[in-house]
Amino acid sequence: MLVQQASKLKDEILRLKKEKDVVILAHNYQIPDVQDVADFTGDSLGLSRQAAAVPQKTILFCGVNFMAETAAIISPDKKVLLPDLDAGCSLSDSITVDELRNWKKQYPDAIAVGYVNTTAEIKAELDYCCTSSNAVNVVKAIPENKEILFLPDMFLGSYVAKMTGRKNMHIWAGECHVHAGITPEDVTKKIDSMKDAEFVIHPECSCTTPLMYDVADGSFDDKKVSILSTEGMLKHVNQSDSRNFVVATETGILYRMRQQNPNKTFIPASDKAECQYMKMITLEKVYDALVFEKNVISVPKEIADKASLAINRMLEIS
Ligand code: 13P
Ligand code: SF4
Repeated sequence: MLVQQASKLKDEILRLKKEKDVVILAHNYQIPDVQDVADFTGDSLGLSRQAAAVPQKTILFCGVNFMAETAAIISPDKKVLLPDLDAGCSLSDSITVDELRNWKKQYPDAIAVGYVNTTAEIKAELDYCCTSSNAVNVVKAIPENKEILFLPDMFLGSYVAKMTGRKNMHIWAGECHVHAGITPEDVTKKIDSMKDAEFVIHPECSCTTPLMYDVADGSFDDKKVSILSTEGMLKHVNQSDSRNFVVATETGILYRMRQQNPNKTFIPASDKAECQYMKMITLEKVYDALVFEKNVISVPKEIADKASLAINRMLEIS
């Protein structure tokens, strides 16, 4: 879209959201134009909190399906709109309800902890929900003698097991195709090209596991490596004295990093790390959803009631 057209559309969206008293929430991976019209931009946990706290009765959620569902579960009295109903998530698709029920049958006494990147139906089967920014704290809150079923992300699961020292965690072998595609080789290449850079890495990345061991055995002694959620990454780079950063997550995050830190340099660990689901949300679709108040996300009450138990347990811990 031409810059002029985009700017006109943005003005119209800003006018309309005020007129209709709609709040726009956007995930950190949204395209820059969409982030520009949002009232709040953040990670999964931050956006869930905003969804619960905002006074507006309508939330236009610029993100993917599971995020909009979570907002609808937390705020059943609000109308939640998703600009494109096909904006899904490969990670959330990596486990079905039947698979989870069968897994739970194998470990009847285990506590089921599920990442927020799951469908509402899956959340209804969980004891606890978690996000990348609070998964360690959620697992720490569970008595040590209790077995844990952690799903669906295997890289986040291994990270949490390592950080908590838990030996009784069973981890589902799911992954996000975007983060799994950021390999240790990508990171090594960037390390070699930017000697004084700091590394910020999302725990869903496949490079997280080998890097954790490298950090533990001192191979990164002269480097700073931090494993963080997207909002955690932003806070970290804003506060750090370093000038250069290699960022291992979906590339949408670079927009806010560069905006908030014009004197620092940010390079993606992999230029290919783009989530096509997040990128399905365009200004035109945001405008349409706002004008016609269409694509309402609703979760059946009995599923929402069960799912909200796991989500609220998480919100109380973090
Ligand atoms: P966070 O923004 O919560 O770190 O999650 C990343 C992600 O992959 C969301 O789809
Ligand atoms: Fe799902 Fe991965 Fe896209 Fe996040 S980046 S929405 S986890 S597919």
